[in-house]
Amino acid sequence: MYKSKIIGLGKYVPENVVTNDDLTKYMDTNDAWIRERTGIEERRWAVPGDGNTAATMGVKAAKIALERAGLTPKDIDFIVFATLSPDYYFPGSGVQVQDLLGCETIGALDIRNQCSGFVYALTTADQFIKTGMYKNILVIGSELQSTGLDLSTRGRGVGVIFGDGAGAVILTRSYDESGILSNHIHSEGKYAKELTVQVPGGPNPPNKLVEDWDPENLTYYPYMNGNFVFKHAVTRFPEAIMEGLQANNLTPADIDLLIPHQANLRISQFVQRKLQMKDEQIMNNIQKYGNTTAASIPIALTEAWEQGRIKRGDLVVTAAFGSGFTWGSNIIRF
Ligand code: COA
Repeated sequence: MYKSKIIGLGKYVPENVVTNDDLTKYMDTNDAWIRERTGIEERRWAVPGDGNTAATMGVKAAKIALERAGLTPKDIDFIVFATLSPDYYFPGSGVQVQDLLGCETIGALDIRNQCSGFVYALTTADQFIKTGMYKNILVIGSELQSTGLDLSTRGRGVGVIFGDGAGAVILTRSYDESGILSNHIHSEGKYAKELTVQVPGGPNPPNKLVEDWDPENLTYYPYMNGNFVFKHAVTRFPEAIMEGLQANNLTPADIDLLIPHQANLRISQFVQRKLQMKDEQIMNNIQKYGNTTAASIPIALTEAWEQGRIKRGDLVVTAAFGSGFTWGSNIIRF
């Protein structure tokens, strides 16, 4: 069995900054409520005509990651793309990246695991390297969420949280001590409807929505049972982290940097307290980008690396929880 390691990191966020005050143009909300409940101060939202989509933002992040890895698109053997906001209902965005980047006709796989999408994507890519099937894999998390939100007061519990952006990593075969030590993924489908977009779906196709048009039927917007999600998140995040640490005979004190999915600053602070971790052991950047779902971990990982917070030999742990419910962690030695 081989081991895989990260050799390149990149991120891209749209230029357009949307502050909490800007949101008051659309809905009845205020900066104090959003900061106090979520920690979010601003987020990036694409604007019509700027060309940003899940696929194109993913490509921009991937180009940076490739350059930092010293590789070209022709060196990539496989693409794993995590998103809940693909350009098309089908095909997935991975195939667009294959084309836009100019890769060979390699395989491209989309992962539909929302907030834990990147943890699942990294886990998946790691397996292909472990078996020796592929050597260099491009793993992307990218989201264009701003176009799918209910920006009226009705949707404010969800609309203020989400942001756009992309992050990418290059995973390659490791010949030394560094690499992914283990991955841990879970799901509990009985809670699928607590955080969901129901349309389009098999039983709810778009033509039915058009035929039975009812302005009060909001199944085409994200629905989130916020309190319920919060309560499960603060249990599952620490569980996933501890499961990963215990599998490697490690403790929270051994973590050099925890990269939690940026769901809500309050959730991250709860996890930090529960695991008795110091401020310098945890990465938070939700204040600037909001919750970018599958993109949040690779964006935070890249930003931490750019800030010099990740050095060779460091133990980096990712953890996520979200729609599904799904959750998990990756334990990585840099
Ligand atoms: N601005 C102002 N007021 C708002 C608001 C907004 N953007 N959104 C909701 N409110 C109001 C509600 O209408 C409600 O008013 P009421 O008491 O008069 O009925 C009040 O604020 C409290 O709403 P509630 O939904 O109970 O707030 P909350 O404390 O649960 O916080 C979340 C809401 C979404 C921030 C919180 O539940 C959360 O973070 N959940 C987890 C989110 C998450 O992690 N999602 C991604 C999964 S990874």
